[in-house]
Amino acid sequence: MNHEHKWWHRSVVYQIYPRSFYDADGDGIGDLAGIIRKLDYLALLGVGVLWLCPVYASPNDDNGYDIADYYRIMDEFGTMDDMDRLIAEAGRRGMKIMMDVVANHTSDEHRWFCEARTSPDNPYHDYYIWTKQPNDLMSVFGGSAWQYEPRLDEYYLHLFSRKQPDLNWANPQVRREIVDVLTFWLEKGVGGFRFDVIDLIGKIPEQRIIANGPRLHDYVLELNEDGFGQYDDILTVGEAWGATPQTGVRWSDPESRQLSMIFQFGHLTLDQARVGGEKWDIIPYDLRELKTVLSRWQTELYGRGWNSLFWNNHDLPRAVSRFGDDGRYRVESAKMLATVLHGMAGTPYIYQGEEIGMTNVRFTDIADYRDIETLNMYRDRLAAGYRPQGLMAAIYAKSRDNARTPMQWDTSEHAGFSAGTPWIKVNPNYWDINALSAVEDKDSVFHYYRRLVALRKTADWLVYGSYELLLPDHGQLFAYCRRYEREEYLVFGNFSGLTLTIDPAELRLGARSVPLLNNYPDPTLGENGVIRPWETAIIKL
Ligand code: GLC
Repeated sequence: MNHEHKWWHRSVVYQIYPRSFYDADGDGIGDLAGIIRKLDYLALLGVGVLWLCPVYASPNDDNGYDIADYYRIMDEFGTMDDMDRLIAEAGRRGMKIMMDVVANHTSDEHRWFCEARTSPDNPYHDYYIWTKQPNDLMSVFGGSAWQYEPRLDEYYLHLFSRKQPDLNWANPQVRREIVDVLTFWLEKGVGGFRFDVIDLIGKIPEQRIIANGPRLHDYVLELNEDGFGQYDDILTVGEAWGATPQTGVRWSDPESRQLSMIFQFGHLTLDQARVGGEKWDIIPYDLRELKTVLSRWQTELYGRGWNSLFWNNHDLPRAVSRFGDDGRYRVESAKMLATVLHGMAGTPYIYQGEEIGMTNVRFTDIADYRDIETLNMYRDRLAAGYRPQGLMAAIYAKSRDNARTPMQWDTSEHAGFSAGTPWIKVNPNYWDINALSAVEDKDSVFHYYRRLVALRKTADWLVYGSYELLLPDHGQLFAYCRRYEREEYLVFGNFSGLTLTIDPAELRLGARSVPLLNNYPDPTLGENGVIRPWETAIIKL
């Protein structure tokens, strides 16, 4: 191990989508005061870090991922005083705040862009990326990535919506501005940053190089050395769709002075058509492939880098709906997914509502959807001749709004999220699935997560143990061993509703095996080697 031990090796991060977390003032939109009111709930769960999706001033074309001012709080979310209070109140409960830094692009309403589009001679013009000859680059949200600006007779680049012009990182002044933003928030006492689509900042559009551009790591080094590296022990994580285990090492090896860790997505793109497919073109995923991807990250980063561990976030479907059974075995399968993920080496992330097993949603009317990506896809594909039914099926499986319906707090109106009308409808299943009943029930998904979070604080094997995949060719069972000094642990999860028969010796189970955590009583496979539907356990061998 070349690593010093870090506080975040033992922490779990909880991701908050502020718009949908808790609305304290009744306008239908979650806010900072709402987060403050729920801090005791989060402290009970035991998490150490709260990652807030963007809370800065924004016209909300992409729900805050289009920032108009990095130094102001969005009016709907509250004030800078609320933010200071949140940092302090979270700190008092042992939790740090992680800010979401969206620096690949700004809003077109950011002052820099308003200046930039007035004249090619304006000093801010070069903060963005312009051309007279647009190429065929496409926006992630549909259509060309170039937008014509009549005043200048030039096009600007937007890899996301037209209202999200890309910043020009080749301009040292842009990099300076972002370092200043980081410093401002560090001075406020935040404990970390999540860098949005960080692997895109080194792009060279004219060569069609988008992710992993040649100067990417120089830019990140600069953010580290001039920015967060000046402060003690800041946790940083970068969103990097294009990462591989090799680049993952570079990103997270402390010696390369980049980030603490990255989010990689190899395990979350296995259910999309391989040739020319987008996320909406869904194919069944194969558990063997999922195991291969995650195991490669486990073994290749071991002792060299650091993993992040997650099943879902604000852009992805709910884990229990995607990989579990959100009907009959919702509770069992939610616990299983938690176990297999938290049993690995790395820093786990819980996305709000995951800890109570919240599920995907199915709105029958497209008008009930809010997400720009979903709505653009629906419009474009309808125009291209796709059938609405098929499109709705894709939306039910993959829309980002699956993760964005309001947090389900209790059985009162709107799931206790808001006294007003929520900006997006609540999932009607809040009668069954809500935080209040989860906290009251000691066998709930919530209390199971609590145990996993607590275990990480004390168990060295869980944090620093090596990893070995068992039964790699099994199509339903995900099983692995963790070893640390003389201790050995088995983690397994049945990714199916089938009853499996496995020879206990293949999982190294013996007479002395002791279960530590399990979702069915007596998980040692019994005499007949039986693993029940969605069964999971951590067992000391
Ligand atoms: C990231 C965010 C996503 C956003 C996009 C553009 O992928 O997670 O929500 O739409 O970047 O900022």
